[in-house]
Amino acid sequence: MISIIGSGLVGTSIAFLCATNALDDILLIDHTKNKALGESLDITSSISSTSKYSIIGTDDYSKLTGSKIIVITASTKTNLKNRTENMSQQVNLIKDIAKKIKEYSPNAIVLIVSNPLDVLTYFFQKEAQIPRFKVIGIASSLDSRRFQYQIANNFCIPQTSITNALVLGEHGDTMVPIFSNVHVDGHFFSISDDKQDVITCNVRNSWKMLRDYQCQSKFGIARNVYDVIDTILNKKEISVPVSIVLEGEYGENNVAMGVPTKINHAGVVEIKNMNFNPSEKNLFKKSSETIKNHIHSI
Ligand code: 2OP
Repeated sequence: MISIIGSGLVGTSIAFLCATNALDDILLIDHTKNKALGESLDITSSISSTSKYSIIGTDDYSKLTGSKIIVITASTKTNLKNRTENMSQQVNLIKDIAKKIKEYSPNAIVLIVSNPLDVLTYFFQKEAQIPRFKVIGIASSLDSRRFQYQIANNFCIPQTSITNALVLGEHGDTMVPIFSNVHVDGHFFSISDDKQDVITCNVRNSWKMLRDYQCQSKFGIARNVYDVIDTILNKKEISVPVSIVLEGEYGENNVAMGVPTKINHAGVVEIKNMNFNPSEKNLFKKSSETIKNHIHSI
């Protein structure tokens, strides 16, 4: 069973993808019971008649028992102006959810989607005491897709020709696009400093651009979460950057942040090594300091 906590735009988009692709049974939890019931009833009608799976809505956390995967999309406020707005309320919420998951489904793999992503991934793991490789913050893969799109757009090349375009660090204003490893058609692709500045700015501001059009991001993050759920349930393997609590990797401790990983049915199975150039190293350090400052401010 896939349990999704929070039945807003992001939670329901993830539920819809999982339901229509017949991944597993779905439990949709929301503190407003009628919202969870209504959304799950709507999604029910999208499930193929050949699928053996169903979706139910509830406000009862005890129904989490037996979940293989739990996705947390809950938020204390919508239409945020930045991802750290409402941070202390979000931390309280995630700690509360962590206690419930520890009680009802301590063996699940947990995917964190709520913001501020890295801060919440850190506090969730500490509170729930679930092994760190099973607490996965999903966002750097979305940032990396935005990076890939920006490169393709700026140089009029197909996205399919681009590999190793990764964004690491904070899912926030200090995220770090790694230019020193970008390849096009299998060869290193050199990008001028001026273009790097433009692309970095566009990647960092992608979600703010969405807001300017008066829409909230949902499909991009939903697809990135879906890919990880599909990998875990269908025993596949993918290499994606995700936020995870670090214990010495990349010289970092007591922080969760986006790093390149390998994921399979067991969750994260490897944090991959990657070389940075001196400027990227510096930016990655600044990003970790920003997240740590947020953590210490709580
Ligand atoms: C995003 O980057 C809001 O964090 C979300 O789309």
